[in-house]
Order: sequence, then structure tokens, then C-alpha cells
Amino acid sequence: MLLNHLFNPIQIGNMTVKNRLLMSAMSINFGVDENCLVTDQLCEYFVERARGGVGMMLVGGGSVHPGGQELPDLPQMYNDDCIPSLKKMVMKIKPYDTRFGVQLMHGGRQSYLPEKVAPSAIPAPAVVKGAVRALEIYEIENLVSCFGDSARRCRDAGFDFIEIHGAHGYLINQFLAPNSNIRTDEYGGSFENRTRFLLEIIQDIREKAGADFPVGIRINGNDYIENGWDLPSAVRLAPKLEQAGVAYIHVSGGVYGSTELTIPSMYTPQGCFVHLAEEVKKHVGIPVVTVGRIKDPHHADDIIRQGKADIVSLGRSLLADPQYPEKARQGRFSEIRPCIGCCLGCIHAVLAKEPGSCVVNPDVGREYKIRDEQKPAAMKKVIIAGAGPAGLAAARLFRLQGHRVVVCEKKSEPGGLLALAARAPGRGELGDILRFFREEIRRLDIEIRYDTELDLALIREIRPDMVVMATGSMPEMPMVKGLFQTHMELVTCVDIMEGRAATGKKVIVLGGGMTGLITADFLATQGSEVVVLNRKKSFAEEMAGNDRFYLRERLKAGKVTLFKNVRIKTFTQNGVIFTVDREDVELKDYHMVVISEKHDPIREAVKPVKEAGVPFHFIGDAKTPRHLMYCISEAEELARSG
Ligand SMILES: Cc1cc2nc3c(=O)[nH]c(=O)nc-3n(C[C@H](O)[C@H](O)[C@H](O)COP(=O)(O)O)c2cc1C
Ligand code: SF4
Repeated sequence: MLLNHLFNPIQIGNMTVKNRLLMSAMSINFGVDENCLVTDQLCEYFVERARGGVGMMLVGGGSVHPGGQELPDLPQMYNDDCIPSLKKMVMKIKPYDTRFGVQLMHGGRQSYLPEKVAPSAIPAPAVVKGAVRALEIYEIENLVSCFGDSARRCRDAGFDFIEIHGAHGYLINQFLAPNSNIRTDEYGGSFENRTRFLLEIIQDIREKAGADFPVGIRINGNDYIENGWDLPSAVRLAPKLEQAGVAYIHVSGGVYGSTELTIPSMYTPQGCFVHLAEEVKKHVGIPVVTVGRIKDPHHADDIIRQGKADIVSLGRSLLADPQYPEKARQGRFSEIRPCIGCCLGCIHAVLAKEPGSCVVNPDVGREYKIRDEQKPAAMKKVIIAGAGPAGLAAARLFRLQGHRVVVCEKKSEPGGLLALAARAPGRGELGDILRFFREEIRRLDIEIRYDTELDLALIREIRPDMVVMATGSMPEMPMVKGLFQTHMELVTCVDIMEGRAATGKKVIVLGGGMTGLITADFLATQGSEVVVLNRKKSFAEEMAGNDRFYLRERLKAGKVTLFKNVRIKTFTQNGVIFTVDREDVELKDYHMVVISEKHDPIREAVKPVKEAGVPFHFIGDAKTPRHLMYCISEAEELARSG
């Protein structure tokens, strides 16, 4: 189905934009030098996305003041030294007809710095730690002026527009929200006083950067926290922003510690903040932007068609696939590599002060390295054993590098353990990446043989130059006293996800990692009474915090009992005795034990490869059982170097 609305141009102030797609600001935490001046790495990251056809895009995390830096590796806008490197970056984007802007921000109490400032001395409710000091009036006036000066620098560097970050609990949002602003002077208390800082910033920017320079603003439609900024306040503010000369309003949601997260995971409905933009849009004539898990271009097109917003902002979808806009415009929908909402490679890494990346697209941040890579001169024949995510990712990239690829999979369908994980409640989007790879295998005409084991006959037939072993892993049975003598049914998480019925049974899940917890959730939704015994200190450490947050809520709702730091004394005929917090606990009258602790790599299929003397590599779980992030990046790295 063609898209009739997404690719219509739009006017924003005096700026014409070729389509309705904006790449939202993302503090990606790479691509700056020790002075926070932008490097080639950031330039090429943006060039790649401009080449992909997005109408507008924003540099994230542009700090207006050193004391407001959100994360260590974000571009600075706080003195004129930033201009030359920004100018170079802008020049690289010019040929692509993408309007390029900077989001200007001050982190306030949500900055990573040890000394934080805020409207009032109230610490952030989550994520960051450290003391917070209330700003003096002269400091507030100085910060207003820092926003104006930074906007002028952006204009001098050649950017087309700027966006003021007034959302997500950062400094401006802290002034707006009653729970973080308890000042009693002209910047606190009434609605007029709480919005003063922002309105003064807008005025200062217009004076310094010129009234014709488009200034957008991002605000929250709802902070989703007690006594926070809410939708009626956003609706009340919006016409004032329009009167103040703002060119567009970008409506988002959530702050650190909120009940709905700004960067939601796969558990959240797609388009979770659209209703906020829709309401704001009823009260202004300037363009309104919506955001939040808008993955499907048809969904984006519908939002515009239904008049819920004028522009759709994409964050992670453009990390996962920079070419998304162009592929959507050409109707090549199945070629779009989907964001799966795992939050792991992107925001989880960034909040850990690591460079941002993407689980499904390991090229994020490496664009400058791979741009000029030559394809290998000689074509190789490659057998890939296993059609899980690692095998499929390797097959695709080996083929794109010009090699001949044959995939053999001993089951009758692809996906491996990921296909099973996608059956758990709320995790169906994991299947999107498998669908993408499956389509790519078809599009690239890669031979895939199902119900086929790797054996000498196959090796003799294909005569490969290399074999890639992507044979996956399986749950390991732990040696625990009484486990093999128990009268309870003994199964693994794989048995459960493959459909072993447990409805209505009382189940002990041994293992509190991601697989253990999603299996527990699966069992609870089937009506089982579930207890999870975790022998580690914390639950699902390998998951992103933003993803785990929703899973924990689901487990609470499903009345799943969680024990951590457990020492198991013995399994009994119908239960288990364990120690937790120095106390003995005995569980009785259970029917089933589900094992979900460590995984063992599956490697037997390498025997014929060794026998034939063909070079081989293990990738993914077959190398070491780990998260999807490593499966795909390892597979692609091998294909590039092979
Ligand atoms: C790694 C990362 C960094 C982000 N940094 C910012 C930021 O600096 N400013 C901002 O307004 N939003 C930031 N966001 C939020 C995104 O702009 C966007 O609102 C959010 O990811 C939801 O949209 P999506 O579902 O399309 O990704 C960030 C998101 C991610 C994933
Ligand atoms: S890491 Fe996960 S959530 Fe983040 S962009 Fe990639 S697929 Fe999406």
C-alpha cells in the first residue's frame, strides 16, 4: 500500500521540509573529542541518515552550558570553539536536502555531573544520583542567555533550525513541573512563573539568532509522575508558545522515574504518545510533532492522514535502519530493518555512559569506518549451519559481500531460541527481526535448506571455503541436590515455550535471568501459580532497564513470587527447601520445575567440518551463549572480515 501523506512537504516557519519525518534528538554519546567538539564519527552517522531520506534531523544533547552536560560524550554549544567542527558537519549534510538542526538542552538535576543545579534542591527521582543545588536568580538569567548564545552559534554553523529541549525532566521541564519547582520567586509557584524561564529562553533565542530562524520546542504532554507537568498544562502553554514565535511543538512524555517511560520498550503499545500530540494540536496552528514507538510507515502515514499530528518523529527506527524513509517512500516495506524495542543497544548503553548502538544494527557509530570498505575481490562459498538470528545475519551479509551462501537448519523453520522468546507475552516484536531476515534471505536469493543437518555429504556437495557454525545453545541442567529424584515434572524453559502445557499447575522456575522471567510471565498468563528462584543477586541483568521495568510490572500483576540470592538446600518430592536472607523456606505441593539458568553451546555439528578440513568459525550462542546484541554484531563482523 502506498503512503499518501508521509511524503508531502511541509512548511515550518520559513523552512520547507520535503516530508513529514523528523529524526528525533538522541544523545548518542559518541562522536565528540575530549573538548566535546564533533568528530567525523558523528558526521558520518548523520550523513548516513540524511542519505536515507529523512526530512529533518536533530543532533541530540547539545549542551548550552558545561554544568548542564547530560552525558560525557555529547556535543558542546557553550562557546564559539564549537562552530568550525559543526560547520564541517553541516556542509556534509547539505547535499541531501535534509533540514538539519540541534536540540539545545541543559540537564539540570538529570545531568551525569556530580554537582547538579535545578530550580529547587530536589534530587531526580531515579537514574541519576548526587546532590542538587537550587539556582540563584543571576544564574537563571545567565542560563537564559546561554540558550540564546548557543542558538546563535548553531545558526552561524549553518544549521537550518534548533529545538529547545523542554521535555523529559531536564532543566526546562524541571522549571515547568510543580513537583520539581517549589521556588517562591518569579520563577516558581504559579503557571506564569513556572513557564517564565522557557518563554524568556525563546525570546533570547529569537533576539540572538534572528526572528526568521526556526525554533521548535519539545515539551512533555504528560510527565507521568505525581504532581508533574500534565496534559492540561501543555494545552494551556501551547498557544503561548505559538504567540512567542515558536515554529513547531514536539510533544513527548515521561521523566526519570515516571510510570510511562520516555523511551518505552516492546511491552508498550506503538504510538503511545500520539494522543498527547493530538490534544495539543487542537489548540495551535503551527505544526505539531508526535513521537513514541512509531515503527510502521503505514502507522505514521495514518497519523498524518487522521490529522493527529503534522510530523512523525522517529528515534530508534532510524538507529535500526537509516534508510527507513527512502525504503518507505519506494514501498520497499519488508526491507526496513525494524527496531524491536529492546532498549539494550541504545538507551541502556547510553545511560551506562557507553557509546550508543543498536542490537539489530551494529553499524551505528561505525559508519565512518565502513563507508569506504571495499567488497572482497574473491567470491567464497560459505555454509552457514543454523538459521537462528546469528546464522541469518551472517548469511545476509556474506551474500551482500558477494559470496555464495548455503544455510542449513536442522529444524523446519528459522529463528532458533529467538523465535521461542517471541512467543512470550509482550515480546512478539522480537519476531519482527526474524521476519526481516527471512525476507532478506528470500530477496537476496540465498539458498536455505530446512530439516538438514550439517554432514560430510553436504560439505562434499557444496565444497565450501568456510563454514560458519551458528548452531545455537540449549539450557544446561544444573547439578542441584534432589533435582533428579523429585516427583515434580522436570522441564526446561525451551520445553515450555515450545508448548509443553503447564496450565493451572504450581510451577517453580529455577533461574531469574531474562529467559526465566519471561517464561514465568508466560506461565502466569496461562493460569499457573509461579515462583522464581534466582541464585544470583539481581534479576535479568542482561536486559535493558527500560525493558525490565515493564516485565517486572507484568510479573507483579501475574502474582509471580520472586526470590533472589537463593541458596538451594534440596529439591524434595513435591517442592524445594532453600535459604534466603539467612532463613530457611520450604515450598510444598508444586507440580513442575522449569530449568532456566545457564545455556550450553551446541557444537557437535563441527565434527564433519573438522574431518573435511574446512576452516570454520563459531558465532552467536554456539560461541558463547549471550544476548542477541552480540549474535548479530559478531555475525556481521565475521561476514565483513571473511
Ligand atoms: C539513545 C537515545 C538517546 C536519546 N536522547 C534524547 C535526547 O537527547 N533528547 C530528547 O529529547 N530525546 C532523547 N531520546 C528520546 C527520543 O528522542 C525519542 O523521544 C524516544 O526514543 C521515543 O521515540 P522512538 O520510539 O521513535 O525511539 C533518546 C532516545 C534514545 C534511544
Ligand atoms: S537497540 Fe533495540 S530498542 Fe534500541 S534501536 Fe536497536 S532495536 Fe531499537
